[in-house]
Amino acid sequence: MALSADDKKHIKSFWQPAAAHSEKLGPEALHRLFISSPQTKTYFPKFDFHKDSPHIRAHGKKVFDALTEAANHLDNIPGCLSKLSDLHAYDLRVDPGNFALLTHHLLVVFAIHFPEKFDTLTHQALDKFLVAVSGVLTSKYR
Ligand code: HEM
Repeated sequence: MALSADDKKHIKSFWQPAAAHSEKLGPEALHRLFISSPQTKTYFPKFDFHKDSPHIRAHGKKVFDALTEAANHLDNIPGCLSKLSDLHAYDLRVDPGNFALLTHHLLVVFAIHFPEKFDTLTHQALDKFLVAVSGVLTSKYR
């Protein structure tokens, strides 16, 4: 599903202010993922899963910053995430179903922290963006 010009506009206008809060938004989404979908913890055998643990804070920020990179390159998401795509497919072998779970939690966190910006069309555009990112990160599985 290609992103329309309007989707791109909504993603950029949401992401600009959100990117400044990557230390909060990424870790919160990750913590919710681990709580609501505990099977995802199996990919992180050495993590401390407590809220605000150094592992969750560092990794959540990394994930969010990767999304910011993608949001800054909406016309070339596959090129921008190529190395991460190799990592998730060849090294980590994360089951693709888990990406939809993380996407869900990211959207929940966005809605909580930016209720005034999270209108219907922004919700739709962000969902399409996260589906596109997930598609790239799982594209090399076969
Ligand atoms: C929006 C989707 C995702 C993005 C943008 C993303 C991004 C990243 C980034 C930036 C890294 C660090 C790479 C590095 O240090 O070089 C990473 C590592 C990793 N990701 Fe993902 N990821 C996503 C989804 C997932 C999902 C759904 C899982 C599993 C439930 C997962 C499991 C992992 C694991 C196990 C690592 C290695 C962690 C470590 O040992 O430090 N990722 N990911």
